[in-house]
Amino acid sequence: MTTPLIDPFQRAISYLRVSVTDRCDFRCVYCMSENMTFLPKKELLTLEELDRMCTTFVHLGVEKLRITGGEPLVRKGIMTFFDAMTRHLDSGALKELTLTTNGSQLERFAADLYAAGVRRVNISLDTLDEKKFADITRWGRLPQVMRGIDAAQKAGLRVKINTVALKGFNEDELFTLVDWCASRDMDLTFIEVMPMGDIGNENRLDQYWKLSDLRQRLAERFILRDLAERTGGPARYVELTETRQKIGFITPLTHNFCESCNRVRLTCTGELYMCLGQEDMADLRAPLRNNPGDDAPLQDAIRAAIALKPKGHDFDYSRQVVDGKMSRHMSHTGG
Ligand code: GTP
Ligand code: 5AD
Ligand code: SF4
Repeated sequence: MTTPLIDPFQRAISYLRVSVTDRCDFRCVYCMSENMTFLPKKELLTLEELDRMCTTFVHLGVEKLRITGGEPLVRKGIMTFFDAMTRHLDSGALKELTLTTNGSQLERFAADLYAAGVRRVNISLDTLDEKKFADITRWGRLPQVMRGIDAAQKAGLRVKINTVALKGFNEDELFTLVDWCASRDMDLTFIEVMPMGDIGNENRLDQYWKLSDLRQRLAERFILRDLAERTGGPARYVELTETRQKIGFITPLTHNFCESCNRVRLTCTGELYMCLGQEDMADLRAPLRNNPGDDAPLQDAIRAAIALKPKGHDFDYSRQVVDGKMSRHMSHTGG
């Protein structure tokens, strides 16, 4: 048995988020600017290198692997990678293999993902209105995502919808979204918008809709009961007593959850970010590439990086200015 990964604040690191591409077929306004420069393909870890990285983390005690992007399903050959991870589910070392996706490619991949051992997917969707969907994602089309959601459920995947709470944009759809998720037996989680990357002319403070306000709105129609259960992510859940529906809140701004952080993030070029809200990272590509056939230097580099995991992020809008802003976009680390 190897020693588990424990950071300086005694948090055990058991959850790895892996961004397999920084590219995406959408351009959500809170995530990207219209003109993004993407990494040259030669910078990317190959699928075999991604396998070796993840396998090393699994050997060090990671039990939950979430594949993200950009849009993970636009990475060429990505199913080969999912199929390769199945062996860690089979061995019992990995408890969960999952992904966060915009849903655009699920019609094509849902059945294969299920076959690879994926049982749950998080799908990003901020509105049920076709016109608004096209506006917010710039390049996305709602019917395509709806077909993806249908395919996911048909394949047996449990679906959680992730909705970024956006002032003046989806406030009026709160109950429509809640009812729609209930009617399809899907969980729903709201996320506060975080200051990640330059997004052109948009202003974060104009976008920001506090989840404490959203919660109050929900409480006007439902009796909310706080749940103790966790999925290993940062969401805190309530149950709507009347419908028994579960609603999640991811509140980096109004309620910091860093004290229970259990995760780190690997980018598609092999950078390890110890926190979504800090600029610090460690390069894992060099120790991987320079030592073919010997994982010890990579393991050492991972342990050294975890020893530098910061206490938390510094996102803050409370002074009516955006504090703690990150220079990189969310698509770099996959949220
Ligand atoms: P489950 O709980 O397993 O369903 O997943 P999750 O909530 O960890 O994953 P998901 O990809 O759905 O995460 C939703 C969003 O939560 C991400 O895109 C981020 O925006 C945010 N998030 C996840 N982890 C962190 C974190 O450590 N810090 C902050 N500030 N935000 C996070
Ligand atoms: N703040 C909060 N959430 C964001 N996402 C993308 N950019 C941001 C941001 N700046 C969300 C997406 C998706 C997940 C990967 O991150 O909507 O649900
Ligand atoms: Fe693509 Fe997700 Fe960013 Fe939207 S939020 S542009 S779907 S990576």
